[in-house]
Amino acid sequence: MQSTSKNLKDKIALALDFSREEEVIAFLSQLNPKPKVLKIGLELTSSVGILCALELVNQLCPESEIFLDLKLHDIPNTISKSVEALSNLKYKIKFLTLHSLGGSKMLEEALNASKNSLNIVAVTVLTSHSNESIQKDFPRITDFTLPAFSSDLVRMAYQAGVRWFVSSANEARMLKKQFSEIKLITPGIRLKKIDNDDQSRVMTPVEALKAGSDLLVIGRPIYKAENPQLEWNNLIHSLN
Ligand code: C5P
Repeated sequence: MQSTSKNLKDKIALALDFSREEEVIAFLSQLNPKPKVLKIGLELTSSVGILCALELVNQLCPESEIFLDLKLHDIPNTISKSVEALSNLKYKIKFLTLHSLGGSKMLEEALNASKNSLNIVAVTVLTSHSNESIQKDFPRITDFTLPAFSSDLVRMAYQAGVRWFVSSANEARMLKKQFSEIKLITPGIRLKKIDNDDQSRVMTPVEALKAGSDLLVIGRPIYKAENPQLEWNNLIHSLN
């Protein structure tokens, strides 16, 4: 696969998994070029609030697109009101995550409430899960495999109208084959096959893109690096 560093950079969502504003400022101010997509998640929103997080990122990187990773999961009525409120904010949100386990009605309500102003992204199975962890936590579920379950979740959400999904890159090839029109966002990316932290199912950026990922979520390999700028440079040039 041929790809330039520019378009590889555009396929990365950098996760801002910080709990203090100062950490976000220190990280983003030093980073060049700025990431095309920035992921704001539960860590930052729980500590500074959604509006402050959006304002902060918008000020530091006004050109970057916002991926709001709230992984919402609630009854359809509550989700509808929440998504409507988020779509009406003055900050433009490009992606918003919900758990597909919330079911087809919840996803349909989310899509209706988004009025196409943001992309509803359905999370399949968290990349921190493995077949073993599911079997240990839910011993009564006997016929479980991650690929089959991911595929069932995507089928249900696809029928509800969702086109963007979060999955492990391990399932990307299979899901793209089964559902050619979907777009896949894949966390659990490691620059080298080394320490996996709490991620059970990991791939390198090149492997994940080859498997069909449309957007790679990368957090700790960059922000926890000894020299984040150096790792960022290495990453965005890694396909040259
Ligand atoms: O640090 P790391 O590169 O593992 O970043 C993982 C990021 O991706 C975190 O922000 C986490 O919330 C998110 N994520 C995930 N697995 C999913 C969905 C999102 O790890 N299935």
